[in-house]
Formats: sequence, structure tokens, C-alpha cells
Amino acid sequence: MMRKKIVAGNWKMNMNFDEGIKLIENIISKINMKASLVDKKDTGVILAPPFIILQKASELCFDNQMISIGSQNCSQHEKGAFTGEISAAMIKSTGANYVIIGHSERRKYFHENNETLSEKVKLVLENNLFPIFCCGEILSERKSGRHFEVVKKQLEETIFKFNKNDFQKIVLAYEPVWAIGTGVTASPEQAQEMHNFIRELIKNNFNKDIAEQTTILYGGSCNAKNASTLFANPDVDGGLIGGASLKADDFVDIIYSF
Ligand code: PGA
Repeated sequence: MMRKKIVAGNWKMNMNFDEGIKLIENIISKINMKASLVDKKDTGVILAPPFIILQKASELCFDNQMISIGSQNCSQHEKGAFTGEISAAMIKSTGANYVIIGHSERRKYFHENNETLSEKVKLVLENNLFPIFCCGEILSERKSGRHFEVVKKQLEETIFKFNKNDFQKIVLAYEPVWAIGTGVTASPEQAQEMHNFIRELIKNNFNKDIAEQTTILYGGSCNAKNASTLFANPDVDGGLIGGASLKADDFVDIIYSF
């Protein structure tokens, strides 16, 4: 079985309710137009809008073969007195299927460490949701040649601690922090090199089959212009798209960049 190709849109804190619904409707109709010309059954699309849109988004995409819905975060707590938080069970109840965990903005602005992220992944899996787990180095770490070591540690202290069965439910996203929202994309060679490194780590930690089955997305200023050269690499299985996921035309072009 070939591993799944995925294009996921991380909307971040953008789009109010009406704008979000309109964007989803646009994406669906553009995909439907393209789908009649090109068969893309092997590509999955995930939309990760803000929490307030999850339920309606899930309804809109319920019978869509290609599109799934995900949230951008969830609490590390199961339930209870955590004012303002959203639990994995609540996300599941909206009809969503994925949860992005460990995005660098969560690590940086909300001080999420590897321990917190492990708790989140555990709850996501317990609620029969699929984690999209992000890793990636900051610029100074790349400049000092420590990027492999940093990514290895991020994975070893989190998702590599799960058992094989659980790990196989995880989608990985390599997102070099210096490329996120900056317009500076990792070169196809830099992306391939890191994705290949990550796949080797998975092989050593689990086994070859699991490594071959794991979807590893690239994220960081991926857009309709550069997606095809990034996705052409053997170990790049798609993208986690921020800015360019907010425009239906660009996002659908990226989906059709394989
Ligand atoms: P970007 O964001 O595409 O706007 O760089 C990617 C991400 O943060 O997931």
C-alpha cells in the first residue's frame, strides 16, 4: 500500500464564521470542477479552520470523499475546570477527524513543551482522532548545523514514545520555523534531506514498513508556485499550508501539484 498524500490547510486565527463557510464552499466547488478532469483519489485534503467553524465545516464535507476536517489544537486535559480550553472529545463531537499538535506557534507563544505535546497526542488518539504532529528547527539551529539533532529530539521526546499501533495513526509535518509565514521556503533539497532523515529515524525506532507508510508533510511558505517542486521529492508526501490555504484558487492548485 502506498502512503497517503495529503494537503492540509492551517487557517490559524483567520476567517470569521461566514468567511470560513464561504471559503470551504469555494474549495469544494473548485475541487469538484478539477475532479471531473483529473482523478486524485490518492490525495487527502484536510481543512483546519478555527474551532467555531469545525461543526459546520464537518457537515459541509460529510459526504466529500477527499476532504476531512481538523482542528489546530486541543487541550492537554481531558475535561473540567480549564476555562477557555477545548478538549479532544469536544473536537471529536463536531465531526472533525484530525488535530494539529505541536505547531511552532503553539510551542513559541503558548509555551507548549514536549511533555504537554505528548499528553495532547495521547488524548487525540484516545478519542479516535488523528494527530498531525509538527516538528522543525528555528533559524539559529539550522545556521549552527543542529537542525537534525533538534528534530530528532522533538520526535524522540514525543511521538516516538507511542507504540507502533498508535504511531501509525500520526501524520507528521516538518515545518522549519524560519520558513513559516516568511516567504522563505526550504529548498526542495533541504526538505527532501530532512524528510528522508525523519523517515530513517522512524525506521530505526519502529520498522521499515511503518517508515514507508508514514505521511510526512512539508510546511513553511509552501504556495501554488513552489508546491510542485517540493512535492516532487520522494519523501515529501504533501504540505501543511498556512497563508496560501486562505485563498481557494491557490489552495486547490496546491492540491493538484502532485
Ligand atoms: P505558511 O504557514 O504556509 O503561512 O508559511 C505554514 C504553517 O504554519 O503551517
